[in-house]
Amino acid sequence: MKILITGGAGFIGSNFIFYERARHPDYRIVCVDKLTYAGNLMTLQNFLDEPGFEFYKTDICDRQKIYELFETERPDIVVNFAAESHVDRSIENPSEFLQTNIIGTEVLLDACRKYGISRFHQVSTDEVYGDLPLDRRDIFFTEKTPLHASSPYSASKASADLLCMAYSRTYMLPITISRCSNNYGPYQFPEKLIPLMITNALANKPLPVYGDGLNVRDWLYVEDHCEAIDFILHKAKIGSVYNVGGHNEKHNIDIVKTILSVLRKPESLIGYVTDRKGHDRRYAIDPSLIEHDLGWKPNTKFEDGIQKTIKWYLSNKVWWQNILNGKYLDFYDKFNRSKKKG
Ligand SMILES: NC(=O)c1ccc[n+]([C@@H]2O[C@H](COP(=O)([O-])OP(=O)(O)OC[C@H]3O[C@@H](n4cnc5c(N)ncnc54)[C@H](O)[C@@H]3O)[C@@H](O)[C@H]2O)c1
Repeated sequence: MKILITGGAGFIGSNFIFYERARHPDYRIVCVDKLTYAGNLMTLQNFLDEPGFEFYKTDICDRQKIYELFETERPDIVVNFAAESHVDRSIENPSEFLQTNIIGTEVLLDACRKYGISRFHQVSTDEVYGDLPLDRRDIFFTEKTPLHASSPYSASKASADLLCMAYSRTYMLPITISRCSNNYGPYQFPEKLIPLMITNALANKPLPVYGDGLNVRDWLYVEDHCEAIDFILHKAKIGSVYNVGGHNEKHNIDIVKTILSVLRKPESLIGYVTDRKGHDRRYAIDPSLIEHDLGWKPNTKFEDGIQKTIKWYLSNKVWWQNILNGKYLDFYDKFNRSKKKG
């Protein structure tokens, strides 16, 4: 079995590579990543020379290169993680989000049609449903909730979902989609809430919290998300859409206070900043369909997952310091030079 993983140098994609390597050691893995600022090849350095693992620095929007890659590699399964993923950046500059998240998905779907695959899995987000009111904690997103995106990021992800469904109906392409809540865990780029707060707190820098800090997110440990995708790939019917969530709703401010308390840092580091434009108030997933159909359930309680995550950032300072000082950007060239010499 050969599995093509796009965006595998990013946060969830790299964790998925680790997960698949451990769970299915016989699978061959092809990782495609453009290595934008969010892609860090250092995360995958232990795999780069391994048999059964190939890395391509390629833009998923580059049709010719993607077709050549499919021609050479002939993957059985494609899992599409590649995306521009930071909402704030999508508000500043939507076009890159539309390009990668929509056109990039279209190019991959076309390649799948042209060369044939047994499954295309689109990694989507709960943000495609828009948001829920803070005072109706009895309402959750189900797979039947209408798509109602709020940000350019979520609109681009919703568009990609619709394209996948259209390719399934029109061309009978074997697709599945997962829509997951907020992930946290090792190897997350330190611009996202949890790693930003950990790394700022360690440096005694202010912890910027949007608005009143009362926005609610449903947090899932990244390994649980990886397991859900693996279950969908191996057990779900073609055409299925599954919501994936942790039953773990938290106010942003409570996350920040938990991090400060674990690190024994003062709450005076918290600094409230002007709210994000169009900031969604609450996301909350009803994951009962995937639990019922596939027997998936999250394994990691938030209290344990956040401890593990903080411990990971404490033990892997070089990983995130290389991001903060920009050194991670040189890693690909060094790897490429040594490959050519070898
Ligand atoms: N992080 C979350 O909480 C979360 C929750 C639900 C769904 N998702 C979805 O999961 C996927 C992965 O998210 P993440 O948090 O790991 O993102 P990330 O930003 O950490 O990683 C994205 C990866 O995609 C690569 N990439 C970007 N544009 C590319 C292009 N044109 N061609 C090839 N590679 C490209 C980047 O280099 C990076 O390695 C995304 O599709 C995102 O929408 C994320």
